Amino acid sequence: MDTVARAQDSGTGYTRRPSTYDAALTEVGRAKPMGEFLRRYWHPVGLAGDAGTTPKALRVLGEDLVLFRDGKGRAGLVTARCAHRGTTLYYGKVEARGIRCCYHGWLFDVEGRCLEQPCEPGGGRFRDSIRQPWYPVEERYGLIFAYMGPPGKKPVLPRYAALEVLEPGEFVEADDSSVGGGGPAIIPCNWLQHYENLVDPFHVPILHGNFSGRQFVEQMEVFPEVRWEYTDWGVKTIAERKLPDGRIFHRVSGAALPTLRVIPNPRVAQYARVEMIGWVLPIDDTSFRIYNAARVREAGAVRRQRSTRNGKYWEDLTEAERREFPGDYEAQTGQGPITFHSDEHLATSDKGVAMLRRLLQRQVKLVADGSDPAGVSFDPNAPPVVLEAGNFIREA
Ligand code: FES
Ligand SMILES: [Fe+2]
Repeated sequence: MDTVARAQDSGTGYTRRPSTYDAALTEVGRAKPMGEFLRRYWHPVGLAGDAGTTPKALRVLGEDLVLFRDGKGRAGLVTARCAHRGTTLYYGKVEARGIRCCYHGWLFDVEGRCLEQPCEPGGGRFRDSIRQPWYPVEERYGLIFAYMGPPGKKPVLPRYAALEVLEPGEFVEADDSSVGGGGPAIIPCNWLQHYENLVDPFHVPILHGNFSGRQFVEQMEVFPEVRWEYTDWGVKTIAERKLPDGRIFHRVSGAALPTLRVIPNPRVAQYARVEMIGWVLPIDDTSFRIYNAARVREAGAVRRQRSTRNGKYWEDLTEAERREFPGDYEAQTGQGPITFHSDEHLATSDKGVAMLRRLLQRQVKLVADGSDPAGVSFDPNAPPVVLEAGNFIREA
């Protein structure tokens, strides 16, 4: 065999190294570095209406849970496996005092206390020693938030100025259809692929403006000048576009810790401060969903912000249309269930992604070393968090 010919064939697929991903940034399960970091914050796990008298099965950070609401109106979130012999409480029944397991009838309250063991002598003389694993929940903005971390480290559930300071006629609406994900409510890939997309403004004129036709508005198709900055809440992207009329479209967006989308409306209905906050919820390592809450003037306004392509919502597109007009869903799930970081070539336009990963790495290490991560507060009187973002216009 001619060695010269072989040298000319360098870079073939055969010679590449095995592909790997950064588990410390992606894996969200219990006792994983990222899982521990994420468990130091509150996460939305459902709409307020999801907690009712029918047990609702949830998967959050790789844990199977059941959500319900007792007769006093208190929401409860417990692990799905019954503490007795492990059947799922999904088949349980909700009663005034809690949730009753279908198998042998043990009854648990919203904090997992075992109230009844009907098959045991005396109704269960040792039932007080049993605790169904449970998590604290709080309701705000139409969402149910859960804290799944160490009990002594539970921060206050933050308030956000974007959802607290309302204009006349506005109210806050929550939505669980993963607006911003470009696809169905549950998106089958790692959450970080979506989270880092938030600091990737260059995909907007390509994927959403050029490759797949106009998905947003004309202004968004102008190539931006971009800079990224660390803030006390995450990574902020400042994208400036010179409009044909000479004015400057100044767009500020960002990724806030731990998983928040701070993305002003890409349809730029108005030049104003950001009106919607999104929470990327890792369901497990290979799927996520997005809960949103926004200031709106009409019910259903959040859901109506779902992207359309070729005039259709994602579920109405044919496979051929998804290939002709790919969007965020196709681009992000196309990276695979968990993208291989070993195979990437980050370039100039990926500076925001690199900054976000460094920030997460630092925060994950802080938590692993016993400190509190950025952005958690233990002060019940803390003022609402201001996430500076919006679509603004400036005369040149
Ligand atoms: S498995 Fe739940 S009561 Fe027996
Ligand atoms: Fe996008």
